[in-house]
Amino acid sequence: MIKVLFVCLGNICRSPLGEGIFRHLVTQAGLAPYFEIDSAGTGNWHIGQEPHHGSQRIARERGLDISDQRARQIRPEDLMTYDYIVAMDSQNAADIRALDPEGRATARIVRMMEFAPERGTPDVPDPYFGGPEGFDLVYDMVQEACQAMLDRIVSEHRIPTVS
Ligand code: 4NP
Repeated sequence: MIKVLFVCLGNICRSPLGEGIFRHLVTQAGLAPYFEIDSAGTGNWHIGQEPHHGSQRIARERGLDISDQRARQIRPEDLMTYDYIVAMDSQNAADIRALDPEGRATARIVRMMEFAPERGTPDVPDPYFGGPEGFDLVYDMVQEACQAMLDRIVSEHRIPTVS
């Protein structure tokens, strides 16, 4: 089982899209049995809430239903139980690493946009304080990066795929 955790600040805008998009790509590829996928926030403000309506709206427009997700906060033990922790921006990555001052994490902590370097930006921008178009941009960036990440994981873990 390959365990992947998507992380942003609030777990209501960006990381729910990461979770939903990556799960959809994995399912489409017939690889669902190999993966466990979740998302979390570094902050605690939105615990228990469903994804932001902007994220639910763009997901629905692209054919995904993420309404079942509920926000939770990342826990230090997540760094010992997940294989990949995918930070949406550099601050998220720093906040995640700060949960592990002794460097005992077994998870690989990566940034989402490491997988889409051609975009030329390290961070998935926070759409929380902007208009609806921010969510469209986030969706496109996360979709592109998630596809590249899945391709990388499949080849690194030598997961058998039907071709
Ligand atoms: P997210 O967006 O980290 O992508 O879920 C945010 C959600 C909430 C807040 C900031 C960003 N907030 O300040 O409450």
